Amino acid sequence: MVLPSSLIARAGFDFEPRTRLVYGEGVLEQLGDLVDELGARRILLVTDPGLEAAGHVGHALRTIGKSTEVAVFAGVSENPTTSDVERAAESARRHAPDLFIALGGGSSIDTAKGASFLLTNGGAMEDYRGMGKATRPLVPLIAVPTTAGTGSEVQSFALIERASDHQKMACGDPTAAPRIALLDPELTETQPRRVAVCTGFDALTHAVESAVTRKRNPISTLFATEAFRLIVLALPDVVAGTADTEARGRMLLGATYAGLAIENSMLGAAHSMANPLTARFPLHHGQTVGAMLPHVVRYNAEDAGTARHYDELAAAAGLEGPGVDAIVRLVEDLLAASGLMADFAQLGDAQAIEELAAAAAQQWTAKFNPRDVDEAAFVELYRAALTGT
Ligand SMILES: [Fe+2]
Repeated sequence: MVLPSSLIARAGFDFEPRTRLVYGEGVLEQLGDLVDELGARRILLVTDPGLEAAGHVGHALRTIGKSTEVAVFAGVSENPTTSDVERAAESARRHAPDLFIALGGGSSIDTAKGASFLLTNGGAMEDYRGMGKATRPLVPLIAVPTTAGTGSEVQSFALIERASDHQKMACGDPTAAPRIALLDPELTETQPRRVAVCTGFDALTHAVESAVTRKRNPISTLFATEAFRLIVLALPDVVAGTADTEARGRMLLGATYAGLAIENSMLGAAHSMANPLTARFPLHHGQTVGAMLPHVVRYNAEDAGTARHYDELAAAAGLEGPGVDAIVRLVEDLLAASGLMADFAQLGDAQAIEELAAAAAQQWTAKFNPRDVDEAAFVELYRAALTGT
């Protein structure tokens, strides 16, 4: 019997699930019990004003017993910056929590992680750029995602934007991974359609990129493949605005599995290209990685081994034809149906290409891309993406 290449276990792995997953419709009701299990007495709940207005914060608080003191920090913004994290950390210093709860999208979860770095280890967010710079463990965190996108609920990294120059910093520590991810599809019902679509493209890109990186291994392949399958089933409904609870559940699980895939195999060139663009233009991260993805997939598929991995990924999701064509067509069709930009020609900034390419080549994700990608390659990729040619 000939095994597909993804099942040949040549690449080793060291897999320690750090985050307990609790999934199901209505599992938010279990939040209070989980708080008690962790023995928490003082909680800082980190969220954004929209979720407070939607009633989710009140719902979460009602599940928590009266003997636990809860303070709420509802000042999370869409792209959390170092100053947002400073404000959350100030709140944490005042309240001295023994547990954080992050209720919201990746922004709330990353802000809670950032505040926990500063509360437990002092200093500034820049001090924790990279992996394992904290000397003391972070405060335990329960992540309750209300969007299906970043996968931050299962990751040991916080992505925080430096306020001075909009550079995204990845700050990681094994203890930054949430202790529990509470995955309730009903919570994703209230997100605006545009947020659901953009975060959906982010999750899709996570699945496709993490499936083929240089660090890919049997465990990341397992999560990336299932993430891709679930997202392929659900994202068309999200884009059409017809997602029911089942589709929302598939998206939420797909995004979480993609997060686990990233945790074990990292990301690739679509993410390297997105960060310089979002630092320069007011673009959503998900919109940006989604528009970059077809260009990166075509580029990577020049490598025969990576083309085979795309074949397997596409076949696992029931897509027909060569994997590269099927994946590119899927992303392009979904971008067109969603009304998001398929290219950035309308930004009219083709002159910026050289600068963007130099910045992309410096991104840490570039070195995990399956095919070598240097500054000259990024110039070509950006030219295609920014001019629509
Ligand atoms: Fe992403």
